[in-house]
Amino acid sequence: MAEKLIEERLLKGKQVVAVVCNQWGDTGKGKFVDYLSDWADIIVRGTGGANAGHTIIVNDKKHVFHLIPSGILFDPKGKINIIGRGVVFDPKALIEELDMLEKEGIIVKHLLISHEAPLILPYHILFDRYNDALEKVGTTGRGIGLCYSDLVSRNALFVNDMLNPGMFKEKLLKYVQTKRNILDCMDRDVAKKIMSHGLFKGFEYDEKDIINIDSVVNLYSKYAERIRGFVTNTSRYVQSALREGKHILLEGAQGLLLSIDYGTTKYQTSSDCSIEGLAKGSGLKEKDVGYVFGIAKSFYMTRVGNGPFPTEFGGKRSEKYCYEGHEKKEEQQLYGVQLSELLNSKDEFMQGIGIRLLSDEYGATTGRTRRSGWLDLVALKYAMSINGPNLTLTKVDVLKGVKQIKLCIAYKYIGPEINFEGRMLKTGTMLKDFPRFSEILYECEPIYQDFSGWDEDISMMTQYDELPVQVKKIIEFMEEYTGGSIDIISVGPERDQTIIRR
Ligand code: GDP
Ligand code: IMO
Ligand code: MG
Repeated sequence: MAEKLIEERLLKGKQVVAVVCNQWGDTGKGKFVDYLSDWADIIVRGTGGANAGHTIIVNDKKHVFHLIPSGILFDPKGKINIIGRGVVFDPKALIEELDMLEKEGIIVKHLLISHEAPLILPYHILFDRYNDALEKVGTTGRGIGLCYSDLVSRNALFVNDMLNPGMFKEKLLKYVQTKRNILDCMDRDVAKKIMSHGLFKGFEYDEKDIINIDSVVNLYSKYAERIRGFVTNTSRYVQSALREGKHILLEGAQGLLLSIDYGTTKYQTSSDCSIEGLAKGSGLKEKDVGYVFGIAKSFYMTRVGNGPFPTEFGGKRSEKYCYEGHEKKEEQQLYGVQLSELLNSKDEFMQGIGIRLLSDEYGATTGRTRRSGWLDLVALKYAMSINGPNLTLTKVDVLKGVKQIKLCIAYKYIGPEINFEGRMLKTGTMLKDFPRFSEILYECEPIYQDFSGWDEDISMMTQYDELPVQVKKIIEFMEEYTGGSIDIISVGPERDQTIIRR
């Protein structure tokens, strides 16, 4: 029913549509990519890598995809899934996903992998994990930033190189030389410990050089045999599909506030996860995209890893706590019984734990506790200025029973005097625009507007009019504040828990 409405109202006459996140990731992109895959002929990932964790729930069964596009469940129906040129490609991660799908009875036949996607190599993962102990960004440890760095500094290997073992070894020898200084300075014990992780399975640690070239060559030759049949020029494929009138769905990863070009400095991923980056990484142009599903979790939001988050429940205490590595089981055991009290606790840190338990906000890739906070409309408006005015709200069902909902509508700067955007910021300066520089954003206190909560379960509602008046009031306020259009409201993880509003 909802699928039909989306087709009639939002997809009619469109040929390319995209799903992107307007926050710090984990907003339910997977649900909507799966949802739209029925309409699409082709589904393309264009940014990021195996740092993504996209969850799809179909008939109570949960699937989590990291590198493979979330349209893959439609492979048996002949849909083409593509890993585009902008994705940093980890063959091990892909093979694991293919094996998992095979166990579930899906033998993937229609996957295409860009010959020019940069390759993740074991040293990217090693350096990522080694550096993060010092830098404390809280990366996913999948080698993403280091691989994109190699691309920019012209030291990347590409998927195509894997198919030519001679060239692969030659390039690898040369490029590993550029890392020699770093490798020589590395603490051997730390490196060895990092490399005992399952992500290095099949790769031999070299006591002298740390990176054993022959071991990488052997491993990647094996990987090459498995993926060879999928590799092609995917950009050319997508562009000709566009000319032929095929329906193309672009699957974003991460979120605008994590983008290397637009996100909160330092605490970012390393690809441009905006609509611009996604289109380019898929082999298209932004102007080719007819409709953007800009996803925003509501009426709270989350962030994984470190970095500024003005509306976080419990502020710095929560950031530190989540970085320490607590898990779902632990929180369930400690706090599960008092959940309903926690939801309205005066202590925002405890309220945050309650809302995390209620909303099941634990990382799909790393299992980490996701930091949670109130919905930040300043940040959302900024994201929409880049990703466009159309919003899809997800998780609207979650805050049932929370008596007071707060939306951030401005910031008060409380840090030391600093020159920013050509003017002096002083303690007490009000900001209505999102400052992406982390040193400024860390010093921003949220100004809230309060709204009443609701007690009804809305997860089975199918029409906008059925929603409690309190929910509609917040939605209408969000539209007024952002100047955008809230077209879809998601009230649960399953396909049919979706309300089409416009
Ligand atoms: P992604 O990275 O953007 O694909 O999002 P994740 O999969 O990391 O996290 C989103 C989580 O929210 C997943 O567990 C989804 O199953 C779930 N989800 C998506 N939409 C809704 C919704 O409207 N309500 C609820 N309760 N859960 C949702
Ligand atoms: P999806 O697609 C949430 C975050 C990490 C870290 C920062 C840099 O599931 O929404 P990286 O490993 O990319 O170098 O880490 O980016 N991050 C994500 N947070 N969802 C994601 O993906 C993320 N991918 C990366 O937590 O803060
Ligand atoms: Mg995710």
